[in-house]
Amino acid sequence: MFHFFATHVRDAKLRDLEDIIRLGSEVANSPHWTREQYQQALSPTDIPRLVMVSEGRVQQRPEGQTTDIEGVMGFIVARTLGSEWEVENVVVGDQFKRKGLGHLLLACMIERARRENALVVRLEVRACNAPAIALYAKCGFQQDGRRKNYYSNPTEDALLFSLLLENAS
Ligand SMILES: CC(C)(COP(=O)(O)OP(=O)(O)OC[C@H]1O[C@@H](n2cnc3c(N)ncnc32)[C@H](O)[C@@H]1OP(=O)(O)O)[C@@H](O)C(=O)NCCC(=O)NCCS
Repeated sequence: MFHFFATHVRDAKLRDLEDIIRLGSEVANSPHWTREQYQQALSPTDIPRLVMVSEGRVQQRPEGQTTDIEGVMGFIVARTLGSEWEVENVVVGDQFKRKGLGHLLLACMIERARRENALVVRLEVRACNAPAIALYAKCGFQQDGRRKNYYSNPTEDALLFSLLLENAS
């Protein structure tokens, strides 16, 4: 149980690379990106992307001992292609799950998309990924498609979700 929990969301920097890679490899169900893919996402390339991290501090007091944990607790990656954004990856560290961080990261990304005049945010997710599907539904995404056997290892359908933004006419 956390005694103290404080976090904020900011744009990621190249110096966050190791934390992002660590979280991406530790958390089950997170899309398995390579170091190069994360590095590219954090660097200017032909494909514009926005990476944000939730960073903060928690204090635990198990059995009278105080433990401080400070640093990156989750991250989100989106392709920012003009009016159409696509969330590619959202990951929260196992010990920080169900504390609203996934929701906060997604809400900050959506807010940025709105400010930058995007009209729609899209994403796809494994059909069995119930926590992610529940998170997307909570953030207002609606399912608008399904790709049969889209994923491999294991083979599974992808569910397609989108969120139309308020500035969309
Ligand atoms: C999906 C994920 C990002 C959610 O992060 P989180 O910080 O735990 O989510 P939040 O605490 O913000 O939860 C927001 C809402 O999502 C839903 N939700 C999150 N985890 C859930 C779970 N395990 N079971 C059911 N609903 C869940 C709930 O509706 C929740 O609202 P509530 O707590 O008021 O009930 C996290 O579970 C994760 O990192 N999963 C592994 C990586 C992954 O699958 N990413 C998505 C594909 S890229």
